Amino acid sequence: MEPKTPARRVLVAKPRGYCAGVDRAVEAVEKALEQYGAPIYVRKQIVHNTHVVRTLEERGAIFVEETAEVPEGEIVVFSAHGVSPMVHAEAGQRQLRTIDATCPLVTKVHNEAKRFANQDYDILLIGHEGHEEVEGTAGEAPDHIQLVDGLDSVDRIQVKDPSKLVWLSQTTLSVDETIETVTKLKERFPTLLDPPSDDICYATQNRQVAVKEIAAQSQLVIVVGSENSSNSKRLVEVAKGFGAASYLVDNASFVKDEWLEGVTTVGVTSGASVPEELVDGVLAYLAGHGFADVEEVESVKESMRFALPHELRKDLRAG
Ligand code: F3S
Repeated sequence: MEPKTPARRVLVAKPRGYCAGVDRAVEAVEKALEQYGAPIYVRKQIVHNTHVVRTLEERGAIFVEETAEVPEGEIVVFSAHGVSPMVHAEAGQRQLRTIDATCPLVTKVHNEAKRFANQDYDILLIGHEGHEEVEGTAGEAPDHIQLVDGLDSVDRIQVKDPSKLVWLSQTTLSVDETIETVTKLKERFPTLLDPPSDDICYATQNRQVAVKEIAAQSQLVIVVGSENSSNSKRLVEVAKGFGAASYLVDNASFVKDEWLEGVTTVGVTSGASVPEELVDGVLAYLAGHGFADVEEVESVKESMRFALPHELRKDLRAG
């Protein structure tokens, strides 16, 4: 008798993919292209996904690294990750028309930073050095904010008054790692104040909860997302923390056949900047390798939506 092949299945996490902030930022560029015509300049990648950037480029968006690269008088969209006040000022000097697609949940952290800085607090910003969001937030109060990137940096922090100290964070961190960092910070600074509400956004948190659920039942978890996407990389780490092998892939062409050797259950999820068609591509690849039994595992229901940036809405209304 032939040995029986074990059943192969795919567990797809839900929620996954686009969050409300990414949806709004991508739609802002699309609508700006329709309303004003190409080219529309975009400072930095509108969201951290290669496919999204390429698709918008094909429609007439021009991505630049700095505002200085945008010709005077043109329209520039600021990305979902937010910008510092200096960037707004530069755009003003160059008489650029700006559309600010900063995610409202990033703006919330900027506002917290400004408020605490005005009250003369030292602010410990937990985040990844060099990430655009962190640069934007830190730019709100450079004299009051210190970056805390990893547990090791806790020992190096110097504060002027430990009784006036608060921590804030990047929106796309690992929830569990951030708790560890805060615990270590509080060992050094017992009076450290918590932010008024969670800075790690609902989408980051929900995608981490969802990946834990599938990782616990899978030998392999494929996370669709780009290398520069913070929240996607955290999903890989969280899956690994649950004992599954896990890889980040931009699209199906990056999946390697050998990852599937000896695997009977594959988990699939995607970061907050990833269009669903890229997940579909991975599912098609898996189906072609005998993993056609697909089950969606929903851990949290999401219904968040954000209105388009007001400067764009105004012009859309006027026609
Ligand atoms: Fe905003 Fe969170 Fe998405 S901060 S852009 S809702 S990952």
